[in-house]
Amino acid sequence: MNKFNLFTKLQFHDTLDSTNNYALKLLKESRPEEGTVILADYQTRGKGQKNNIWVSDKNKNITISIILFPTFLRVERQFYLSMAISLGLIAFLNNYKLHASIKWPNDIYIDRKKIAGMLIENSVLNKNIINSVLGIGLNLNQDVFPKDIPNPTSMKLELSQTFELNNVLRSLLNSVEEWLIKLYLKKFQNIKQSYEQFLLYRNEWMDFVQDNRRFSGKISGVNENGQLVIIDDKNAVRIFNFKEVEYC
Ligand code: BTN
Repeated sequence: MNKFNLFTKLQFHDTLDSTNNYALKLLKESRPEEGTVILADYQTRGKGQKNNIWVSDKNKNITISIILFPTFLRVERQFYLSMAISLGLIAFLNNYKLHASIKWPNDIYIDRKKIAGMLIENSVLNKNIINSVLGIGLNLNQDVFPKDIPNPTSMKLELSQTFELNNVLRSLLNSVEEWLIKLYLKKFQNIKQSYEQFLLYRNEWMDFVQDNRRFSGKISGVNENGQLVIIDDKNAVRIFNFKEVEYC
């Protein structure tokens, strides 16, 4: 695996309900080329995590979905797709001198503010992933956000400049591609270690909430399945799935 050439496989759309939905539809109806990227200037019903809506002003941000066929990846390791995309986003932001971290599982933060998120939708057959839609939303030139979005930021808000979408897109896809290639080369250990290195609040004492009960602990990393590993104040190792534990 040398290159996906993501930038050359771009499909631009003016308006879609959701780039993920469009990519899923393509997969149902045809066999798109691996690495096809769907981009929309505007999504009428962009999808976020936890059934939320992803809100993004027209022509201001990057909303894309990448289609892959990572058939070598067992379902237990599907979180490696999220780790690779997160690391691609971190590397991309670093090129603009922005030091970002990853709020487990899928959010990219600058300080305590969210700049990007992802929604990955996989199809599985016989415990292997047969196709994957990697949706990425990056706040680029938007500087006013709806009040109900908690702590948003954008590259414009962070760097006080407006960005040219095409340049940013090229740079983003290059960085994401580098990490996807590592995944296809099965550099699992490298990916997991790098992901943990950028985990927000790692090794910091803090409070967590599980089933309305509070406890103190430190995030120590993630396991192979992408579950969060916390060492609590009684030195017990506690493992959590997405949505099972809250912290902010
Ligand atoms: C989240 O943080 O809640 C996930 C956000 C994912 C948003 C992107 S925008 C492009 C792609 N298409 C969608 O409908 N959602 C993802």
